[in-house]
Amino acid sequence: MLLKCVILDVLFTLVILPLEPTGAPQTVTVRVTSSRSISVSWDPVIVDDRNGIVKGYKVNYQALPNEPSNAPQAVTVSATSSRSISVSWDPVVADDRNGIIRGYIVSYQALPNGHLVAKILNITNEEQNNRQTVTLAGLNEFTNYSIGVLAFTIFGNGPASVGQVVETLEDKPSGAPQAVTVNVTSSRGISVSWDPVVADDRNGIIKGYILHLALRIIVFKNRRRNKGN
Ligand SMILES: *[C@@H]1O[C@H](CO)[C@@H](O)[C@H](O)[C@H]1NC(C)=O
Ligand SMILES: *[C@@H]1O[C@H](CO)[C@@H](O)[C@H](O)[C@H]1NC(C)=O
Ligand SMILES: *[C@@H]1O[C@H](CO)[C@@H](O)[C@H](O)[C@H]1NC(C)=O
Repeated sequence: MLLKCVILDVLFTLVILPLEPTGAPQTVTVRVTSSRSISVSWDPVIVDDRNGIVKGYKVNYQALPNEPSNAPQAVTVSATSSRSISVSWDPVVADDRNGIIRGYIVSYQALPNGHLVAKILNITNEEQNNRQTVTLAGLNEFTNYSIGVLAFTIFGNGPASVGQVVETLEDKPSGAPQAVTVNVTSSRGISVSWDPVVADDRNGIIKGYILHLALRIIVFKNRRRNKGN
């Protein structure tokens, strides 16, 4: 096998042109100055790397996608029945979305100490600017609920709106009065007393009671039947 080695002689021509700086500015520091501004400072390019007179600097920056930095706006809550509440809101303002809003979480809690429940609403890209409404169902009658809404991107959840309190509507009681007792007080009178319906079963403010009296007539039959043929 033959190995071929070729040596090329190349001629260089040296031309001196104004060049770009060959080094970057030094000790760049970035400081957050408010929720919506940052300050950037730096030392000059070192003299040897300037390759001429530096005429200016260009600061490149890019907002990275993140979770929303604000809550949905104009949240309204209203009871639609004794067991449901309607919740509506406007989107997070565009500057505070920090990405595509993927959906909302409505969290609610029966006061004073119910469990916190979260309802998720996914939205599409086309719905970014729409006012949204959800109905919370299966709630307790005549109960205060505290309700908040937050928006999320794929990076996480934004802050929730300030909790708003609304009371579900009243309904008829779901339990009877307790410990009913009846005493005969005379040949023509009886007295009846009872304890209230238990608080959880009242479902509203009790306005009164209705007593049902049934007259039971007992007829004694004492006529004898003749058994003879
Ligand atoms: C919302 O989207 C998530 C992720 O795609 C999915 O797991 C979830 O079931 C959806 N929820 C509803 C209520 O559609
Ligand atoms: C709801 O809260 C308000 C204000 O604290 C209170 O006056 C009202 O009685 C509460 N409603 C119920 C059903 O507990
Ligand atoms: C019925 O009589 C009992 C015994 O005297 C008494 O304790 C109770 O309060 C009476 N109930 C009514 C409804 O009068």
